[in-house]
Amino acid sequence: MDFMLTEEQKMIQQTAREFAQNEVAKDAAERDRTETFAAHHVKKMGELGFMGMMVSPEYGGAGLDTISYVLVVEELSKADASVGVVCSVNNSLVCYGLEHYGNEKVRNNYLRPLATGEKLGAFCLSEPGSGSDASSMTTQATLKGEHYLINGTKNWVTSGMNADYYLVTAHTDLAAGYRGISAFVVEKGFPGFSVGHKEKKLGIRSSDTATINFEDCKVPKENLLGAEGEGFKIAMKTLDGGRIGIAAQALGIAQASLEAAVGYAKERVQFGKSISNFQAIQFKFADMETRINAARLLIYQAAMLKDRKQPYSAEAAKAKLFASETAVFASTEAVQIFGGAGYLKDYPVERYMRDSKITEIYEGTSEIQRLVIGRNVLQSY
Ligand code: CAA
Repeated sequence: MDFMLTEEQKMIQQTAREFAQNEVAKDAAERDRTETFAAHHVKKMGELGFMGMMVSPEYGGAGLDTISYVLVVEELSKADASVGVVCSVNNSLVCYGLEHYGNEKVRNNYLRPLATGEKLGAFCLSEPGSGSDASSMTTQATLKGEHYLINGTKNWVTSGMNADYYLVTAHTDLAAGYRGISAFVVEKGFPGFSVGHKEKKLGIRSSDTATINFEDCKVPKENLLGAEGEGFKIAMKTLDGGRIGIAAQALGIAQASLEAAVGYAKERVQFGKSISNFQAIQFKFADMETRINAARLLIYQAAMLKDRKQPYSAEAAKAKLFASETAVFASTEAVQIFGGAGYLKDYPVERYMRDSKITEIYEGTSEIQRLVIGRNVLQSY
């Protein structure tokens, strides 16, 4: 496997790094404190081509590969993991689903503005009673003439408040189990669509997470993605790519934690010398750096397989599992290295620690990633 970045990938990484460090990082702490959505940064991300990175230029996208996307999400998340997840969800969970399963009208009417960043996307799968067991959803879509009427509640929807278009899964045939689930694209303005309450969260506080209600929500027939009954597989395939994005988000948090901790350890003097001289601290850096490198390789491997159109479901799960656990580990170690200072809002590491935890939970918990990997192992040997 060759993981040397191409000149184009290095240029994209540099552009993302400059934007993230010069603009996004500046107000990240304040947005975290006030739970303010980074609308101005999302707009700029659209202008930079970061919102539809892998979408074909035919539909307004940048037509880039998954490695480039991973590089961008990592850089954004180093500055602000909330901005990273907004980018990841729009790209992986919404644009991917619409490009691969939407008809021409869906691609032109919905995918194009999402890919250019004029509009924002959200993904509605989970429900109050259906999280890890995704197919146990109860939201239903009933065909009445030229429209589906959707009824139900979705929760944990990233960008739920601020999005314009929503990829929504619902049963068109409840008795058929997961084979009766279908997927739709729904506009915020459709009759019967409403945004419910916004969650109060431990981390990624400037990315909004909301409940979405559907009460006889009228959705045109042509907004169905794929065929009736294909929705569960569409959601699963879409999540495979999403998990690469969340792994990249976790990697960004881990990398930021390491860099902050090294900077602090070189400055902080105890027992007459900077604490970076002590092996107790150096060993922490060794473990952080080693895990970060390993996470990066797993992520690149999953991205490369996706770009080569080879199976990547288990590889994406491994990347997300390892990178998210690395983010939690590295950010916790960073707080430890900062000592009492790390526990204060004066430094960014406490935010990294709070932000890291969600990467072990959303787009499939670590337990679900292990389940996906475990099943794959049994099929492989
Ligand atoms: N790609 C394509 N098809 C897949 C698939 C994949 N990755 N995974 C499963 N399928 C197919 C199976 O092949 C099977 O179809 P067939 O019977 O035709 O072969 C069908 O789907 C059912 O599969 P399973 O029997 O494996 O289904 P399961 O009920 O055991 O569940 C699961 C599998 C992996 C646990 C799945 O439910 C899952 O991933 N759960 C986690 C859900 C999740 O990640 N939620 C995140 C919410 S989104 C989010 O966080 C949003 C946000 O805003 C950030």
